[in-house]
Amino acid sequence: MIQSIQEAAAYIAQATNSFAPEFGIILGTGLGDLVNDVEVAHSLSYADIPHFPVSTVESHSGKLIFGLLAGRRVVVMQGRFHFYEGYTMQQVAFPVRVMKLLGIQKLFVSNAAGGLNPAFNMSELMVITDHINLLPGNPLIGKNPDELGPRFPDMSDVYDEHMIREAMVIAEDAGFDLREGVYVSAPGPMLETRAEYNFLRIIGADAVGMSTVPEVIAARHMGLPVFAISVITDMCTPDRLKKVVLKDILDAAATAEPRLTLLIRELVKRS
Ligand code: HPA
Repeated sequence: MIQSIQEAAAYIAQATNSFAPEFGIILGTGLGDLVNDVEVAHSLSYADIPHFPVSTVESHSGKLIFGLLAGRRVVVMQGRFHFYEGYTMQQVAFPVRVMKLLGIQKLFVSNAAGGLNPAFNMSELMVITDHINLLPGNPLIGKNPDELGPRFPDMSDVYDEHMIREAMVIAEDAGFDLREGVYVSAPGPMLETRAEYNFLRIIGADAVGMSTVPEVIAARHMGLPVFAISVITDMCTPDRLKKVVLKDILDAAATAEPRLTLLIRELVKRS
């Protein structure tokens, strides 16, 4: 695995004139527009990068974009890999490991999620303060690559406290509500049943989605500070649950997108 990561990173370094990104950004479903704020220097298709998985979801475009955001060097994953697409956890986490080798010092992650906390509303943003992993596995299972991190990484402070506080200040200055809460990862691809939403709320989750946790675990294993945020695209409380199709999720994500973009741009600028 280490060799695959090195080969992917070597290809990217050569294709980007050793661009050396400071920050990595993973954009979730319907949340790719941040890229419009990036002064693009290089754009690589996943398909051209050795060992890189290739995205199968139509709403994800599958590009690694290198450029300047608020004057800082970033690498943006436009489209990510989900467990429900059939990838292994190692594949889902692979790009994060490559980005770390390319030199990123922080990771920013976004996703579309269902709201479980009854105080939330559609299209609001929730900063992730902690997570519950209900995926049937994680990227650290198997022989530990000691070069990357420890066998038993600590998970008591996964989401960077300083960046969470900074985000709250940015949102307040910009005049929008920013929620905080616990994200639970479910395998998907089907959405959850009423009984499952009830269960997820009882065990302490504020939002549910199908991504983020594997990438975050791989990042924390390597000691990377992480900031992650959910866009609440549909409400999953008993009184507000209704049938959801992908278009509804994309529409709600589009409404929230300008706030998400502002937040990440400002966080990057202040990093
Ligand atoms: N579950 C429910 N609603 C959602 C999800 C999910 O995983 N993702 C976005 N909206």
